[in-house]
Amino acid sequence: MTRILNIGSLNLDHVYAVPHFLRAGETLASLSLRDFPGGKGLNQSVALARVTGQLTVNSEQLTVEVAHAGKVGEGADGAALAAVLREEGADTHLIEVVDGPSGHTIIQVTPDGQNCILLFPGSNRCLDEAFIDRVLGGYGAGDILLLQNETTCVSYAMERAAKKGLRVAFNPSPMDGAVPGYALESVRWFLLNEIEGQALTGETEPEAILAEMSRRFPDAATVLTLGKAGVLYRAGAERLAHGVYRVKVLDSTAAGDTFTGFFIGSIAMGKPPAEALRLASVAASIAVSRPGAAESVPTMAEVLESKLELE
Ligand code: RIB
Repeated sequence: MTRILNIGSLNLDHVYAVPHFLRAGETLASLSLRDFPGGKGLNQSVALARVTGQLTVNSEQLTVEVAHAGKVGEGADGAALAAVLREEGADTHLIEVVDGPSGHTIIQVTPDGQNCILLFPGSNRCLDEAFIDRVLGGYGAGDILLLQNETTCVSYAMERAAKKGLRVAFNPSPMDGAVPGYALESVRWFLLNEIEGQALTGETEPEAILAEMSRRFPDAATVLTLGKAGVLYRAGAERLAHGVYRVKVLDSTAAGDTFTGFFIGSIAMGKPPAEALRLASVAASIAVSRPGAAESVPTMAEVLESKLELE
């Protein structure tokens, strides 16, 4: 059995529909307000659970086990966020409650489905080395660790995990100036968008980004998502590409999280990278056609039944 541990953020997303993004000095009436469970970590765990079929957690058929580790505040929203993951069938016993508020966001979504996100990190900034050691304690060689960049102690987690023989997948989102200094040699799969790829390599062209990632991290695979231009993959001499599907964009929030969860979940289930790219691309396309973050993530059954066509 493959085990996936996701050490990541949990946020309550306050999503405001707006006619346009707020401008400096402007007061703008929103069209609606809805609250959704979110956080890049939580969204990716939901995607992992939906791709690996965790609803059958006690079944003999189960081959992939998903656990989420993170920290929430003591309020009702923290408990509700952990409950979302539990209901998906993810193991939540590594989610700890700390004093103070949980993470939350204020998200503006425009009529064409674009978003911008203001993040209050809250309890997601309370992860420390002792916590990382604790949650990694039950994991070892062959297991997978998934990380984003929305919590503290990310570099320590990847370094410790690799030393224990875990395979590390890293989605450096949201990108910041600290990421290039992380223990990136510990990473087995990088999941990057163009901006993240540019920040890591200093290159601007997709092929140059992949070439530089390959030069610096010869043992890692890089998945580079390019929005409307699809996705590229490079692992040593193996190179793959996949296009995007035709879909009406309602809300792009968590599209990247859906892609990451489906790609890593598919790999954990033994799918070859080309198939993992296809499944992740379909899943992300479905996600952008729905409102919200975690709630927009499709199930594997929906992805397999999808009739979406490539553009
Ligand atoms: O990637 C989307 C997520 O980013 C949202 O759910 C929000 O919480 C922010 O973390």
